[in-house]
Amino acid sequence: MFKKLSIDDLQPGMYVEAIAETKVKATGESGSHRIAQKGILRDQAAIGSLRNAGVVSVIVDTAREIKSETPSVQPLDPTPAKRNKLKSNKSFGDSLTNARALYQKAKELQAKAMENFASGQELDIESLVDMSDQFIESLFDNQDAMLCAAMMRTKDDYLLEHSINVAVLLAAFSKYIGLEQRIIRQLTLGGFLHDIGKIKVDDAILKKPGRLTPAEYEEMKRHVEYGIEAVQAIDSLPDISRQVIALHHEKLDGSGYPNKFSGEEISQYGRMASICDCYDAITASRCYKDGVVSSRAFKVLLDDSGKHFDGALVSQFIKCLGVYPVGSLVELKSGKLGVVIKSNQQSPLRPVVKLFYNVRHQHFIEVKDLDLARMNLNDEIERTVTQESLDIDIPRFFDEFIFN
Ligand SMILES: [Fe+2]
Ligand SMILES: [Fe+2]
Repeated sequence: MFKKLSIDDLQPGMYVEAIAETKVKATGESGSHRIAQKGILRDQAAIGSLRNAGVVSVIVDTAREIKSETPSVQPLDPTPAKRNKLKSNKSFGDSLTNARALYQKAKELQAKAMENFASGQELDIESLVDMSDQFIESLFDNQDAMLCAAMMRTKDDYLLEHSINVAVLLAAFSKYIGLEQRIIRQLTLGGFLHDIGKIKVDDAILKKPGRLTPAEYEEMKRHVEYGIEAVQAIDSLPDISRQVIALHHEKLDGSGYPNKFSGEEISQYGRMASICDCYDAITASRCYKDGVVSSRAFKVLLDDSGKHFDGALVSQFIKCLGVYPVGSLVELKSGKLGVVIKSNQQSPLRPVVKLFYNVRHQHFIEVKDLDLARMNLNDEIERTVTQESLDIDIPRFFDEFIFN
């Protein structure tokens, strides 16, 4: 909510949206100015700078304010030392920073691979193999951080992020069911490449908000064949990676594509790929649709078990991610909102949550990790929410205060 405030009423932690009025000292004139940079007032010095510039009043956005849970507002110090204090779980923060950097690198590599295929050049498979290895290393180091990084996605990069997320999900899933590392590598690589053929499908079809015409749908389905074509000359690509590309849209009842394979014709790896692919596609937001919470996606997988998906693998997949998958946004009974950063295998309803917002008071709060399994804690998860249902810029907040 926007509110006009006198410079005398400003406090550190408030979010300045615009300057309402300034007074030019020499002439006594006053007028309206645009603020050079919107943002949170870090400390009293920032308020002093505005005062020195002749600012008389500003417009603040109360929804973006950062308040302490204590009655007095605690100033946020921009120094790294203070920021580290905000991360109460330093090792998780470090792993998350690394995972995010790796994720960014993977996006660049993915974009390059697609560009190469679109322009008829050879794929740099070695770089992709190297990337899969780094993902697996990061996953074994701290799976929660890797999954969390994958779930903090942006709306505009669906194609790139979806491929990376399917790779991460396949890696976590295959690790969970105890497949050997050699297989995990091949599945992860397949995940990166599974939709590479989409680069040859017209954007107008890929991003069409409404229902596709039969001809458009036929063209969309062709991405699998384009994908197979993209890798056919790469002799070193393992067979399991090829299966991920070729089988990720096949369904157990034979209603999938491109070959309408059914039952035993679809390998375990193909079945795993279709589960990870469907889960990520449902939970992701795209330019034309909002994502849904994980529980809804689990329901789709369960409802279609036996028809489209392998039921035994679906239940393993759900167990692997947990009731509240890492990276989910959850609202607690107290009205506090946070992101799940650590699952709890013993008590799946009580993960560790990084709190940063109060939904009832509609303001940011000091970032704090809360272990919901802690004894005598009078709070619990009320529901999962999607980023889109909240009127706050969560990725930006995370970039500024959690990942830095
Ligand atoms: Fe696909
Ligand atoms: Fe896909």
